[in-house]
Amino acid sequence: MTSQAPGRIASAADRTVCRVAVMGWGSYAPARVLTNRDLERMVATTHEWIVERTGMRERRVAAEHEATSDLATLAAQRALQTANVAPAEVDMILVATITPDYPFPNTACLVQSRLGCSRAFCFGLEAACSGFLYGMEIARAAVATGGVRTALVIGAEKMTSILDWQDRTTCVLFGDGAGAVVLQPAPAGRRGIISTVLGSDGSLADLLMMPAGGSRHPATAATVAARQHFLKMRGREVFRHAVQHMCEAAREALSKAGVKIQDVRWIIPHQANLRIISAISERLGCPMDRFVVNVERYGNTSAASIGLALDEAVRDGRIRDGDVVLMVAFGAGFTWGATVLEWGAK
Ligand code: ACO
Repeated sequence: MTSQAPGRIASAADRTVCRVAVMGWGSYAPARVLTNRDLERMVATTHEWIVERTGMRERRVAAEHEATSDLATLAAQRALQTANVAPAEVDMILVATITPDYPFPNTACLVQSRLGCSRAFCFGLEAACSGFLYGMEIARAAVATGGVRTALVIGAEKMTSILDWQDRTTCVLFGDGAGAVVLQPAPAGRRGIISTVLGSDGSLADLLMMPAGGSRHPATAATVAARQHFLKMRGREVFRHAVQHMCEAAREALSKAGVKIQDVRWIIPHQANLRIISAISERLGCPMDRFVVNVERYGNTSAASIGLALDEAVRDGRIRDGDVVLMVAFGAGFTWGATVLEWGAK
């Protein structure tokens, strides 16, 4: 590491590469629970259909006054607390989200102001459900090369703000929440983050998107009337690509890390659908009892899902010191990624 003041980017000549570890973790889920039975009263669906096709039983819904930055701030406060890091020590804040408070300014700046991280530089990242792993890799690289000492990475979504509550094929699938991690140089002797693989395929962008509200189709009365400001998804096609790319990314990240699947204690997959997770378990030859799964309680929280699942599994004692953890994600874009790390912050 360099000795320059934190928050200032080192010149190339100053840079050395160090190992980077997750030193803090936290999450937040809004209080309101929306069950499958509640959804039965809103669209033509059944609890049984949703459970059989997705594994979901309930999801959280943010209050009207809660925006993505509010969820992100609460998760980040918890992550800073577990890391024992003061807001003034944070050099960089990255918020991965597809449901920012505003098109601009970026949500990370709003979080910065709430947390009081006055020295941090802040930006947003839009890689849908892969955003948390994309964010972790950008932060890892920044810390590894010495420009940043303490990075706060947050995945946060108010997915319920972009759902069409008349479309049963999508509105039953998503929920709100936030997960956060603090990355810093790994303690001596710790491996921390071992490998990451990221990928994208923009040729399939239209399978999962929000058609209007950007520069292609700015908001007009006509786009609103046509319900174009909601998430649209061709679920069956997305399912196939999700399984394929998550398996490939997982294998590639394991091979890059020199780790065998048998040596992975916990897999934290993006929580899109229990059937996707089961298919990955089967293809990787890794039993379901080594997967961290909470999709039944939160639905798909997009960029928040891996951080939320990680925090729960560490807090309830499943993930322990020395465990090798594989995280794997897939989302709109398409984007995908996998990260292998050795758990341990002391
Ligand atoms: N309730 C009852 N019936 C429904 C519902 C519902 N909520 N939704 C769809 N159906 C019906 C369909 O209309 C269809 O009826 P039909 O046969 O008469 O036409 C039937 O159920 C089957 O529909 P499919 O879409 O084929 O169902 P499938 O088994 O593929 O499950 C699902 C759909 C859950 C969306 C699944 O395809 C999936 O999980 N896809 C991947 C999601 C994903 O991974 N997203 C990526 C990340 S998200 C992000 O990046 C923001």
